[in-house]
Amino acid sequence: MMNNEQQAYHIPVLLKASVDGLNIKPDGIYVDVTFGGGGHSREILNRLNENGRLYAFDQDEDALKNTINDSRFTLIEANFSNLRNFLRLEGVKQVDGILADLGISSHQINRPKRGFSTRYDEKLDMRMNQTAELTAYEVINQYDETELRRIFLQYGDLKNAHTLAKAIVKAREEKPVKTTGELNKIVEKHFPKAKTNKFLAKLYQAIRIEVNGEIDALKELLKQSAMVIKPGGRLSVISYHSLEDRLVKRFIRDGKFEGQAEKDFYGNTYVPFKKVGKLIVPDEAEIERNPRARSAKLRIAERTEH
Ligand SMILES: C[S@@+](CC[C@H](N)C(=O)[O-])C[C@H]1O[C@@H](n2cnc3c(N)ncnc32)[C@H](O)[C@@H]1O
Repeated sequence: MMNNEQQAYHIPVLLKASVDGLNIKPDGIYVDVTFGGGGHSREILNRLNENGRLYAFDQDEDALKNTINDSRFTLIEANFSNLRNFLRLEGVKQVDGILADLGISSHQINRPKRGFSTRYDEKLDMRMNQTAELTAYEVINQYDETELRRIFLQYGDLKNAHTLAKAIVKAREEKPVKTTGELNKIVEKHFPKAKTNKFLAKLYQAIRIEVNGEIDALKELLKQSAMVIKPGGRLSVISYHSLEDRLVKRFIRDGKFEGQAEKDFYGNTYVPFKKVGKLIVPDEAEIERNPRARSAKLRIAERTEH
């Protein structure tokens, strides 16, 4: 059971379905690449026996305080794009399953200082890894108009990306845009009044994905998962954005992010995973309990014998 502090940090999404998807072998080796408040990790540990092992990753030092005191558990402060190397440092070459619950935690959103929230007036930051160099300040003040437009369109699905990028470039010619409040003032007039919050959230999502290199990290994670999961092992991924979900879906289907699956001389396709079941989304009751679950999409796959 979660205590109040863990609940306040983050309520785990699709907890049972995502861990069921790992088809846990009690003495297996598992990885939770997005530890956060540790909700999924605790559930995995509950299903392991004394010989099982769980490794978890998080790049945010705030997550470390949620660590679990259990001899079967190791928490690694690192980006999951380095999954394979860090596992190797632990002496682990192959695992039985990997779980990823992408994006940011409620804790990260709710801490004003982190700059992820549209509600406060704070420094433009939005780094998950608080020691990383790139912050939202550089993105907003140094990226050229074309780059800003691309980010807003691709990562935020913002139809008026062009207008927003132009407005930001014009404003920063007068003085740098330093805070989230200043940014909101520049863009708000370009959003429909009744839906300002919804569009601000999309804009912030776009900036956050860029600041944290989330798309490249996800691609690396998927490629390395194919290298470290044993045949018959499982991959369970929860995403919250259509672009991410599309990458997960394509990688499971084709073993790549674009184009068709590779075929050998005999016309057999080579794909590292096969999908297990259908796309899973939270039911009404979960969304009511935890509105953050609203956009979640869970995909499960099994490593093939290739
Ligand atoms: C949605 S939360 C996970 C919540 C967790 N499943 C739970 O139930 O508490 C995502 C977490 O993954 C971390 N994270 C996101 N991308 C990461 C990456 N590329 N490398 C390491 N950690 C990452 C974030 O810092 C955040 O703490």
